[in-house]
Amino acid sequence: MIDPDSRVSGSSIKKLLEAGIDVKVGVEEEDCLKLNEAFIHRVKFQRPFGIFKYAMTLDGKIATNTGHSQWITGTNTRNFVHHLRSSCDAVIVGGNTVRRDNPQLTTHGVTTHNPLRVVMTKTLDFALNYHLWDINQAKTVIFTHSQPNATTKSQLLDKGVEIVEIEDINPTFVMNNLHQRGLNAVLWECGGNLASQAIVSGNIQKIYAFIAPKIIGGKNAPTPIDDLGINAMNEALLLNNTKIQQIDHDFLIEAYFENLELRM
Ligand SMILES: NC(=O)c1ccc[n+]([C@@H]2O[C@H](COP(=O)([O-])OP(=O)(O)OC[C@H]3O[C@@H](n4cnc5c(N)ncnc54)[C@H](OP(=O)(O)O)[C@@H]3O)[C@@H](O)[C@H]2O)c1
Repeated sequence: MIDPDSRVSGSSIKKLLEAGIDVKVGVEEEDCLKLNEAFIHRVKFQRPFGIFKYAMTLDGKIATNTGHSQWITGTNTRNFVHHLRSSCDAVIVGGNTVRRDNPQLTTHGVTTHNPLRVVMTKTLDFALNYHLWDINQAKTVIFTHSQPNATTKSQLLDKGVEIVEIEDINPTFVMNNLHQRGLNAVLWECGGNLASQAIVSGNIQKIYAFIAPKIIGGKNAPTPIDDLGINAMNEALLLNNTKIQQIDHDFLIEAYFENLELRM
């Protein structure tokens, strides 16, 4: 495939042809486009490619009604997620997930690469002993409103956590900031509140839904995506290019939001 970046697009091919080397373009093009989908999206839209990953029970719950969620899927599925993280440049969660789950958001040694760990919070209401503040494991950046919480802020800064303060924080600001850092693929591992904001603002292109054959029930048990303001089925967001695979007892469905143009 031709590099979609206009600064280089086709120039190497031209040089090779001028040197008398035969070049075939478009070989296994579908696979090339898929392999490079994050880079292509970044070049085209000047924003990283957003992937929303969640694990839910067969009745569509991402945690019990007490907020307990570890673990929904099995060991091999979680190992798959560690590999997925290793293919991403950053992973984003909201403050509530940090407080509830105390996640590490690392690749747990499957590769030496760990994505940048990103937290969005309005409150900065955090204990100091969370895994995410151990920057020896991986770097962490917090995006937050301008903070009155000076004590927590200075304690987190002392631990080496980066803090970006902004008056009106939202998913697009964060994704633009990550684009400026040169990042291609961003994995949203947040709960339903932040996920709905990221979806409506167009910051998620692809879904990885892990479904475990478990039922927990409960009206108040959270689901992957909060209110999107959709009242009728004909307003439902459509996904395409779906793929399903089984990982032990769990299933993974991959899908893309419709109307996403990946080709140049
Ligand atoms: N099964 C799964 O795949 C999975 C994945 C993730 C989470 N969970 C579960 O989901 C539950 C948490 O759900 P949640 O929806 O509250 O998730 P979340 O990922 O914590 O997102 C909500 C939090 O994000 C921050 N936030 C939201 N909008 C923001 C904005 N515009 N600017 C800055 N910060 C913003 C707020 O943090 P502050 O309150 O700090 O201001 C808010 O409480 C937990 O029970 C967790 O276990 C499950």
